[in-house]
Amino acid sequence: MKELIKKLTEVSSPSGREDVIREVILQELKDHIDGYKVDKLGNLIVWKNGQTDKKILLDAHMDEIGVVVTNIDDNGFLRIDMVGGVSPYTILNSKIKFGNTIGIVGIEGETVNDLRNNLKELSFDKLFVDIGVKSREEAEKLCPIGSFGTYDGYFVEQGNFYISKSMDDRIGCVTIIELFKRLSNPKNTIYGVFAVQEEIGIVGARVAGFDIEPDVAIAIDVTGAGDTPKANKRTSMELGKGVCIKIKDGYSISDKKIVETLKNLAEKYNIPYQMEVLIYGGTDARGYQNTKAGIPSATVSIATRYIHTPNEMVHKDDVEATIQLLIKYVEEGI
Ligand code: CO
Ligand code: ZN
Repeated sequence: MKELIKKLTEVSSPSGREDVIREVILQELKDHIDGYKVDKLGNLIVWKNGQTDKKILLDAHMDEIGVVVTNIDDNGFLRIDMVGGVSPYTILNSKIKFGNTIGIVGIEGETVNDLRNNLKELSFDKLFVDIGVKSREEAEKLCPIGSFGTYDGYFVEQGNFYISKSMDDRIGCVTIIELFKRLSNPKNTIYGVFAVQEEIGIVGARVAGFDIEPDVAIAIDVTGAGDTPKANKRTSMELGKGVCIKIKDGYSISDKKIVETLKNLAEKYNIPYQMEVLIYGGTDARGYQNTKAGIPSATVSIATRYIHTPNEMVHKDDVEATIQLLIKYVEEGI
């Protein structure tokens, strides 16, 4: 599984440009499913047939946050905007990967005061990307306006932790891939949705839900942890404490019945779990919940430190606990 996490997180494939990651996931799954399709927006939908006509949908978004080139100056420096939630503070001085081109994010400041003020109220207006060229013409060849980029990073395993860019939400994709690999004879038909464009507003999930019309939908995603020095006091989630069963976040309230079922299964099979209330954010569950005539939906999450940075950190045991809980859920069926 470690190799799979490395493989998926090191792929550069932001919202709206999911073709690269989609192909990697499909190759990984093709011998473990009964069928698949790619819908009109680019969602990858896979399934394994069950013995009833009930449908369980499991979702992870395959896109990642990134940037897009908005302008190029005479000296070949790029201007960018965010694709999804990217903090200018996080991106400053980082490496960005535009296809095969690497860019470094720098900041304007003609005087010491200027620089100090820019740092104090940092915005994308003050940032530029240096791709090591000297003219607009050279830059246009490598990164024309509209080029998409992501953080450049590599996967690290250290002790019980995995660290990489785009754990959000490639780690969710990994849990669904592992589930399909380990699952032999599901009671209900299981759909896996690797959704597009979650990071810019839960776009893919809504149409996938409309299309499949499952009986229940569960989104698997990362959630903020509150276990670092002076972290938000109202956040209880911790790395290594087990799979998070979400009650609520900023965009949706998990279906009460699904939450109860997940909790009971975790108790019954001794799967470490924690209840989650996230005071911000949202997941694809929102997209399923209010599509078609409404689909009972919930989120299962993996506590993560440094979300939306190039160094998202998760605990190995939480990843395994998440897979275990999802397997029990689909084995016992609805
Ligand atoms: Co995200
Ligand atoms: Zn996410």
